Amino acid sequence: MARLRYQQTARSGRARAGLLHTRRGAVRTPAFMPVGTQATVKTLMPEEVAQAGADMILANTYHLSLRPGAEEVAALGGLHRFMAWDGPILTDSGGFQVFSLAANRKLDESGVSFRSHLDGSAMSLGPERAVQAQELLGSDVMMVLDECPPPGADRAYIATALARDARWAARALAARSEGGGALMGIVQGGVYHDLRRRSAELLLELELDGYALGGLSVGEPKEIMMEVIERTVPLVSGAGPVYLMGVGDPADLVRAVGLGVDMFDCVLPTRTARTGALLTARGRMNIKNARYKDDPRPVEPDCQCPTCRRFSRAYLRHLYMAGELLAYRLNTLHNLHFVLGLMERLRQAIAQDRYEEFARGFLAELELGQQ
Ligand code: GUN
Ligand code: ZN
Repeated sequence: MARLRYQQTARSGRARAGLLHTRRGAVRTPAFMPVGTQATVKTLMPEEVAQAGADMILANTYHLSLRPGAEEVAALGGLHRFMAWDGPILTDSGGFQVFSLAANRKLDESGVSFRSHLDGSAMSLGPERAVQAQELLGSDVMMVLDECPPPGADRAYIATALARDARWAARALAARSEGGGALMGIVQGGVYHDLRRRSAELLLELELDGYALGGLSVGEPKEIMMEVIERTVPLVSGAGPVYLMGVGDPADLVRAVGLGVDMFDCVLPTRTARTGALLTARGRMNIKNARYKDDPRPVEPDCQCPTCRRFSRAYLRHLYMAGELLAYRLNTLHNLHFVLGLMERLRQAIAQDRYEEFARGFLAELELGQQ
């Protein structure tokens, strides 16, 4: 049986809806994966994450390798048992996190060596170890080790990196064991279309289980990001699911789905929740604002989340201002329901061939909030 099979069930323009069949069950696409970096979607119980509408979550190999350790998690029965999440888990390879968090990074053909951001201890990570660590965790969908070039990187640097990424991807594939999960490649190339094409060609030759778009949402202008997505998706969409890494802003999700993207992950809904930012159809609501002090209404009147069904804006503001821990939970529940509910509405719109109409309405409503 294939480790990962994408089944398209509907199409609307370039947007597509379907099912991603993993060894731990099907994922409805377009899908948003909540981020559980440290084997927890922060503040929530696993069933709350599922009830919010998530079929699959993401965990980070970098963090879990440093603490508690991939071997330790394996000895405890794997990540699914460890965190009590029975559904599919996708793991990022650690490349991106090394580049954003670790110190003293040194990169060569073998991989990357660095110092842990936790205790400064010397570590190294190569494509083979990245696969081994993800297999020890019990990942259902693994990502190849890649380098996400820094925002200011020039063409020559990016070209060198994507060629090395492709060699790393071949080594990752060779290192995967018989019982290992699916393995996805990551198309890099910055904002240069010919480099994106080159990266896609090199990775497609390897016949990986699906392809991600990496190196985006790292500071480039939004229009440029959308252009890169628009031109890159068609290169890989015939070869499995298309995954846009690190994107989770509601407007970006809607636009990228319209360009044919199937999967997303982002800390945005969960992280912003913990800063008091609540996602709504009219944009972000800063619950710290004094205007909500006496506001008896729910965050969103028609939201069916556990937060909006029972609690007022005034209560949420009070909890947040008082530093109460429940604030983080309630805000996270709402934001995840918002983003996962948006994915459900997108899937339905695609099934009814109404993507364009839905997107126009959603983006217009967001605009109203900016005024
Ligand atoms: N998460 C967001 N962007 C990236 C990327 O370019 N590579 C990896 N591995 N993870 C990411
Ligand atoms: Zn809500």
